[in-house]
Amino acid sequence: MCYLCLTLIFFDKMNFLIINGPNLNLLGVREKSIYGEVSFEKYFEELKMMYGKIKLEYYQSNIEGELINEIHRVGFDYDGIILNAGAYTHTSVALGDAIAAVNIPVIEVHISNVHRREGFRWTTMIGKDCLGTIAGFGLNSYKLAIEALLSHLD
Ligand code: DQA
Repeated sequence: MCYLCLTLIFFDKMNFLIINGPNLNLLGVREKSIYGEVSFEKYFEELKMMYGKIKLEYYQSNIEGELINEIHRVGFDYDGIILNAGAYTHTSVALGDAIAAVNIPVIEVHISNVHRREGFRWTTMIGKDCLGTIAGFGLNSYKLAIEALLSHLD
């Protein structure tokens, strides 16, 4: 029987954590032509309604070390992490090391298509430690990441 089925039968719901990094607390306000008009809090409510079968949590910080602490906190117990590390994606060796240190799958997410933007956004310091990357689908990137985790754990 698949991991997802066993988890649902014998344990509580699967537990996924969405982590947003710097400046993503300003979604809906910040550079709307790139990131859209909807706050993450509003979108997160929709996601929770869509995925009642999963325990979905959300954490945001503008501070690199706090993002690392959060990855450590859940990285041995939860079923998966969906991480939009914002600009730290392109700079943070420490975040990549944190992802490599834990033993649950992490999906790198970006709202915008970073490959169609400035050259410094083409580099990811975390991608090599993640299960995969989803970028360019607006807030829907997070939903696609949930689907990717579910199909990976199936
Ligand atoms: C982003 C892309 C990053 O380059 C940028 O620094 C962000 C948001 C995205 O979701 O498209 O803050 O991660």
